[in-house]
Amino acid sequence: QYLQESELSQETRDMISTLPREKGWVANHLHQYQGFWHSSRQMQGVLACQKHFQAQDSDILLVTTPKSGTTWLKAILFSLVKRGEHYHPDPQHHPLLTKNPHVLVPFLELNLYLEKPVPDLMTSYAPPRLFSTHLPLVSLPESVKDSACKVVYLCRNPKDTFVSLWHFTNRLRPEGRGTNPLEEALEKFCRGVSLYGPFWDHVLGYWNESLKRPERVFFIKYEEMKERPGFHLRRLAEFLGCPFFPEEEAQGVVDNILRLCSFETLSNLDVNKNGKLSSGEEHSAFFRRGEAGEWRNLLTAKMAEQLDRITEEKLQGSGLKF
Ligand code: A3P
Repeated sequence: QYLQESELSQETRDMISTLPREKGWVANHLHQYQGFWHSSRQMQGVLACQKHFQAQDSDILLVTTPKSGTTWLKAILFSLVKRGEHYHPDPQHHPLLTKNPHVLVPFLELNLYLEKPVPDLMTSYAPPRLFSTHLPLVSLPESVKDSACKVVYLCRNPKDTFVSLWHFTNRLRPEGRGTNPLEEALEKFCRGVSLYGPFWDHVLGYWNESLKRPERVFFIKYEEMKERPGFHLRRLAEFLGCPFFPEEEAQGVVDNILRLCSFETLSNLDVNKNGKLSSGEEHSAFFRRGEAGEWRNLLTAKMAEQLDRITEEKLQGSGLKF
């Protein structure tokens, strides 16, 4: 599942050899590139998409911090933006019923530019093209910054993000290696040494950008989406220039999308119970509990306080709260 360092391109290996490295949570090493931590395998996709991805003005890019509900928002965005094609006449054949959301909305650096250094995205994806990435703002391909494409940014309370990440990385560990020591993982997360970490810098980059360019960056938290899904789905539709028509409202299209994309529906589909991504992760690993506030079942009061303290310090003065 993970490319060995010897399987990486020479260019990636040369670049990696110049970067600070730390022992990772699952993969052998994490490398610090442009201020954020990446696995070796990821680095190959990051460099390729930075070099080759050409954003179109009509593109929609979903950017998320890992474990913030990416799978959910991929499903929502796909069913929202492509609803003309797929809702009528036969919802029984909606692509989400037979394909995992990560297949329908691929990651730039983890799928498209990892599988092929220069994938053909012009003929395979009809506009508006929907892609996703975990890249921090500073590392986005230049063409994204230069185009008018829209960015939807999703993040999640750091305590739940950490807990979800911890569970996820346990699933990725080779059999027999047991779970990741929790204290050690927390210590790394707090120092920013986690996939696409530091978490707080990632969030702040997009938060500030969403304040500067609200017409380009839509910022949303998992908890907000959980609490008022219909409200935020309508806001998202407005932001993306595809608001719901009164006839659609009357037909209950908003609720249909939310039902189709719910944890309940998606996690019980055959494709998501049994399938695997081409990168090796089982689809079911992306559906665990799907609740806000789940950290209470794992973190001690001291651990929660530690995360709260860092969050307060890092976000001070930004106007952003979790
Ligand atoms: P938990 O581990 O807390 O359950 P990502 O998609 O970014 O990898 O995030 C995974 C998290 O989103 C997991 O959180 C997962 O259960 C949750 N999730 C997946 N699908 C969801 C859905 N349809 N609605 C709400 N949460 C969902």
